[in-house]
Amino acid sequence: MTKRAAILGSGHYVPTRVVTNDDLAKLMPTSDEWIHQRTGIRERRFIERTGIGASDLALPAAKMALEQAGRDVKDVDAVIFATLSPDVNFPGSGCFLTHKLGIPGVPALDVRNQCSGFLYSLSVADAWVRAGVYKNVLIAGAEVHSTGMEFNERGRDVAVLFGDGAGCVLVGEATRDGQGVHNVELHADGVGAQELWVEAPASMYIPRLTPEMLEEGRHFPRMNGKQVFRWATEKMPEVAHSVVRRAGLTMADIDMFVPHQANMRINQMVAAKLGIPEDRVVHNIERYGNTTAATIPIGISESWREGKIGPGSRVLMAAFGAGFTWAGAVAVL
Ligand code: UT7
Repeated sequence: MTKRAAILGSGHYVPTRVVTNDDLAKLMPTSDEWIHQRTGIRERRFIERTGIGASDLALPAAKMALEQAGRDVKDVDAVIFATLSPDVNFPGSGCFLTHKLGIPGVPALDVRNQCSGFLYSLSVADAWVRAGVYKNVLIAGAEVHSTGMEFNERGRDVAVLFGDGAGCVLVGEATRDGQGVHNVELHADGVGAQELWVEAPASMYIPRLTPEMLEEGRHFPRMNGKQVFRWATEKMPEVAHSVVRRAGLTMADIDMFVPHQANMRINQMVAAKLGIPEDRVVHNIERYGNTTAATIPIGISESWREGKIGPGSRVLMAAFGAGFTWAGAVAVL
C-alpha cells in the first residue's frame, strides 16, 4: 500500500467569554438583525483578558487532538501553526506552542495563509508524512481577532464577523485501507491582496507605523466585503469540485462538507452549487463567527465529537480568504 497521511485526531478550544450581537450593538451602530440576516452569526467568543495569545488557545485544542489520536505529546515530531493573528509579530506562534507543550527541539512552522491557512498546513503535513520526513505532525489553526478590530462605525463591517478560537488535528500515517488525505489543492491570486488586509505596521514604510496611520485605522483589517463574497462563492465550489473529482469521488460520496466559516450565506450558496444537502454541511459560524484558520479544524472536531463523522467518513473541506487564497481537500477519516 502506498503510504498515505491521515487525520488521526482533532480538538478545539474557544474562550469562555461569549459576546452576542446585542453586546456589539452597545459599542457601535449595528444590530442583531443586521448581523444575523447578512452573516448567520449570533455570537462569538473573545479572550477573557489581556495576555492570552493564539498559542494559548491552541494548547488545549492540541492536547485534545492528541488524545483522540491516541498519541502522546512526545510523539509529535513537527508542528505547523496557521494563524493571521500570531501571539506577537515574531517569532511565530508555533515556537510558543512547542514550548508550552514541552517539546523542545521539535520544528515549528508558521503558516500565514489566513482563511486557507489550515488547508495549506494540511497540504504540507500530508506531504511530510507521505515522504517519511515526519511521522506525527500537529496542525494548529488559532486566532485572537478580538484585540485587533475596530469597534466603531468605520470598522463595524469587519468587527461583527470575527471571533477567537482554535482547532487542531494530528496528521500521521494511515493504517486502514482507503483512510487518508486523498487530495489537497491550493491557490492564490494577489490581485485581491488589498481587498482584505491589515496594512500597518508595514516593513515597506519608513517608519512602519505613524500617528497618521493610527488615526486612519490602517492597523485594523479593511475589507471589500462584496468583492470577497463574489470570489468566495465562485472559487470555493470550483476547488471543491476539483478535489472531489481528483479523489475519484462524486459529491454524492461526500459524508460531510466542512467549509470555512466566513458567512452562513456564502456556505449555503456554495453547498447549493455543489448539490450537498444542508444536513451534510457543518456550520459553527452562528456560535463562533469567523475564526479564520481555526474554522475547519473546529468544525471537524465538533462534528467528530457529536458523532456526525468518524472513522471512514469522507470529508470535503474548502476555504477562501485574504490573499486572495483558496483551497480544498478531501480526506477519509
Ligand atoms: O474569511 C474572510 C473572508 N470574508 C468574507 O468572506 C466576507 C464576505 N463578505 C460578506 O460576508 C458581506 O459582504 C458582509 C457581511 C461583510 C457585508 O454584507 P453586504 O451585504 O455586502 O453589506 P454592505 O457592505 O454592502 O453594507 C450594506 C450596508 C451599508 O450601508 P449603506 O451604504 O447601504 O447605507 C453599510 O454601511 O450596511 C452597512 N453596514 C452595517 N450596518 C449595520 C456595514 N456593516 C454594518 C454593521 N451593522 N455591522
